[in-house]
Amino acid sequence: MAATRNSQLDDTFYQAADSFFPANQKIGLTFDDITLATLYSEILPRNTQLDTVLADGLQLNIPAISADMDTVTESRMAIAMALNGGLGLIHYNMPEREQLSQVSRVKYHVQGLIQDPIKIAPNQLIGDVLKLIEEKKFGFSTFPVVDEKGKLVGLLSGHVVKPRYAAKKVIEALTPRQQVQTITKKELGKDPIARADKFFTEHLGIHKLLVVDEDDHLHGLITMSDVERITQERKAQFKPARDAQFRLICGAAVSATRNAFGELDRERILAHVGGLVERGVDVVAVSTAHGHSKGVGDTVKVLRDAFPKLPIIAGNVTSAAGVEYLADCGANAIKVGQGPGSICTTRIVAGVGIPQMTALYICSRAAAKKKVSILADGGITKSGDIVKALTLAQGVICGGIFAGCTEAPGDVVEISGKMYKHYRGMGSLAAMKSGSAARYGHEKADTTRKVAAEGIEALKEVCGSVDRVLAQLIGGIQSGMGYLGAKDLDALRQKARYIRVSPAGQREAAPHDVVELKTGN
Ligand code: XMP
Repeated sequence: MAATRNSQLDDTFYQAADSFFPANQKIGLTFDDITLATLYSEILPRNTQLDTVLADGLQLNIPAISADMDTVTESRMAIAMALNGGLGLIHYNMPEREQLSQVSRVKYHVQGLIQDPIKIAPNQLIGDVLKLIEEKKFGFSTFPVVDEKGKLVGLLSGHVVKPRYAAKKVIEALTPRQQVQTITKKELGKDPIARADKFFTEHLGIHKLLVVDEDDHLHGLITMSDVERITQERKAQFKPARDAQFRLICGAAVSATRNAFGELDRERILAHVGGLVERGVDVVAVSTAHGHSKGVGDTVKVLRDAFPKLPIIAGNVTSAAGVEYLADCGANAIKVGQGPGSICTTRIVAGVGIPQMTALYICSRAAAKKKVSILADGGITKSGDIVKALTLAQGVICGGIFAGCTEAPGDVVEISGKMYKHYRGMGSLAAMKSGSAARYGHEKADTTRKVAAEGIEALKEVCGSVDRVLAQLIGGIQSGMGYLGAKDLDALRQKARYIRVSPAGQREAAPHDVVELKTGN
C-alpha cells in the first residue's frame, strides 16, 4: 500500500498546515505565495462533495457566499446563489424596510413560478398586444387576461395573437375563465415544481398553468418548459440551498448602528433583526471592517441574547484573539480578511491587515478551539485561490468574482465596445455616503471631520450568469480536491500540504512564453 503513504522526503518539503505556517511565521503569506502538493488519489473530481456546515441550522451545498456589498448582492443575486447551493448576503446600504422586502423576495421565490406575469386587459385590441410584443421583444405570445381588480378573466392564447385579428378585442378572442386550467397557491404545496410537473402530465396539450388565490386573483404563471428545465436541473450534483420549509436560504448584513449619542442603538438593531427573522432570514452578518471591537462584540451579544438560535456571522478579523472574542460574544461563523479585497485600500490607507493565507491559518486554529467556523473573505480571483482557502476555512466570500454577473445590481455600461458593471468598495466614499459608513467606524453625516476612504470605485467586465461563473469555480474546486485525493471538504482540510512559491514559480504557474488565443473559460 505504498501508494497511499506520503514518503518522508515529501513530508520534509510539503508540510501540513501546523508545520508549514509556524515555520513561516515571520512572513505574511497569501494565495499566490503558496501552492498545494498533489497526493495519491482514488477520488474523481466529479465525485467530490462540497457541502459545508457554517452553524447549527446553516448548511450550504457549495461553500460559496456572495459578499454583502451594494454592487454585488441584492435579491436576484441571493436567489441565484441559493439555487446553486450557496448563500447570498443582502447588503445594508438601503433603508431597513427595503432590505426586509429583499429578503422576502428570496424567501418567497418559487423557482419556475413567474410571480408577476405580463397581463392584458380584456378591452385591449389584439393589435395592441402585437405592438407590445414587438416593442418589448417578448419571446412568447400567450398572456393571462385580468380585470382592473386583478381577477382572472381568461387566457389569450398565442394562436390568436396574429396580425389578421389585429382589429379584434382581446375579450372576443380569449379562452374564457371557465375553460382555463388554474391551481391555487395552497394546492401548489411545498414542492410547486413537482406539483406542476404532475399537472402537465395529467393535462395533455396544456403548457401553461395559472396560479390564483381563493378570490380568483392572478398570482402567477408556471410554464411547462420552465418545469422541464428545472426538473432536469434537479438531477444536478449540487442542489439548491433550502430551509426546512423548502424555501431558498438567504442572509442579510446588519451594522453596529449607533444613536445620536454615539451609543449602540440596541432597540433599532433588535427591531431590524426582528423584522428580518420574521421574514425568514437564515443568517445575519454583523459586517464591519474591524470585528475585534466593542461595538461589534456588543451587537453580536445583543443579537445572541434576543435570538438564541439565529446563526450569526461576524467580522472582519485577522487574529486569533479576534476570533475568540467574537465566538465568546456568540458568533457562529467569523469572517476573516482585512484589506485583501480587490477594491480595498485598507492596507494602503490605514497600514493594517494580514495577507490572507496566514490570517486564515491563525484564525482557523482559534476557531477550531472555539468550535466556530471561519469564512475567507476577499482577495479571491480564481478557483485555485478557493481551493487554498478551503484547506483552512469552511467557506469563501467573494465580491469581485460575482460583480460582473447579470444578477449583480446595477446597469451594464459600454466603454470602447466592452461591457462593464460598476463595482465599488463598501468603504469607498460613494458607498459610505449611501449608508456603509458605520462599517468603517464613521458617521454617514460626518461633515466636520476628514474621512479617509478605504475602498475604490471600479468596473468589472460583464461575465454572464452566476450559474456560469459558479460552474467554472466549482469545476476548479473539484479538480483541486481530486488532486489531493479529498472526497469532501473535511478531507481537504486534513490532507492539504503546502510549499512556498518563489517569484519565478509564480510566473511559471500562469500561462507564459506563448501568445494566448483563448483563456481557459
Ligand atoms: P473581493 O476581493 O472578492 O473582496 O472583491 C470582497 C470583500 O472585500 C471587503 N470590502 C472592503 N474592504 N474596503 C476594504 O478594505 C472596502 O471598501 C471594502 N468593500 C468590501 C469585504 O470583506 C468584501 O466581502
